[in-house]
Amino acid sequence: HRHLLGIAQLNQQEIIDLLDRAEAMIPISRQRKTLPNLAGKTQINLFFENSTRTQASFEIAGKRLGATVMNMAVRTSSVAKGETLVDTAATLNAMQPDAIVVRHGSSGAVELLSQKVECAVLNAGDGAHEHPTQALLDALTIRRHKGRLNGLTVAICGDIANSRVARSNLILLGAMRARTRVIAPKSLLPRGVDQMASEVFTDMRKGLEGADVVMMLRLQNERASGKLIPSVREYYKFYGLDAEKLSHANADALVMHPGPMNRGVEIDPAIADGPQSVITQQVEMGVAVRMAVLDALLNKDADDA
Ligand code: CP
Repeated sequence: HRHLLGIAQLNQQEIIDLLDRAEAMIPISRQRKTLPNLAGKTQINLFFENSTRTQASFEIAGKRLGATVMNMAVRTSSVAKGETLVDTAATLNAMQPDAIVVRHGSSGAVELLSQKVECAVLNAGDGAHEHPTQALLDALTIRRHKGRLNGLTVAICGDIANSRVARSNLILLGAMRARTRVIAPKSLLPRGVDQMASEVFTDMRKGLEGADVVMMLRLQNERASGKLIPSVREYYKFYGLDAEKLSHANADALVMHPGPMNRGVEIDPAIADGPQSVITQQVEMGVAVRMAVLDALLNKDADDA
């Protein structure tokens, strides 16, 4: 592949290859080593939406592979003067980068940009469409704890309708033959959700019964999700992950959250920081996964993955 636009473009073997490549990057990252794989290459991070984890880890990942990494400050760029996405892409393309990592609020904007440039384009989240490196880092975190993805029951809970994280995870977990459940109030379930997940629940306790992994999602208030629930207090009562609700899942269930968390909205702080939580490990896996995808796309001489 030339780009990474979504998990939907990957088959099962390609997902496994990326997870294996990421696994090999973990010791490099932990030892704070730098590989020469992308020496002489230039990576531009272009984030039209806010980010902490994805932007920082893409920057660290590129630097650990020896690339020159440039972070575009979109708010102080000529985007603020009215320059379009396509003109911005053409402008950056003229500077001969090897990769552009893009986050944008509109579904499909990253694919559009990929058609206008000659370099590799990596989707760092586009609207409610896909967030492929998030799904890969979630899969790596699960695989390291459970030894497999195949046959696990994974419950994804919260704002499914507006979540690119949910979409990418459901596609990946389906490709890897995990059993997927979504749990949400009806107002936060997208149309066609029964085609996206194996099972759909509106009752959280029933949905968590027998789950091996509980993945919580943030309410996407920037996409007006807050207006789809009666109140935050009621949302927390019915869908916030607390000790009592978590007791319905398997005793060794992993608790995950892509971040950023809204403590006390979708998750009790005691659970977020508790013994079943792997939330900070997800962040750590983010660096290894982003090293792997950058290496797979840009280091073609070493491996044509
Ligand atoms: N999980 C995630 O995408 O976090 P950021 O928005 O902080 O990048």
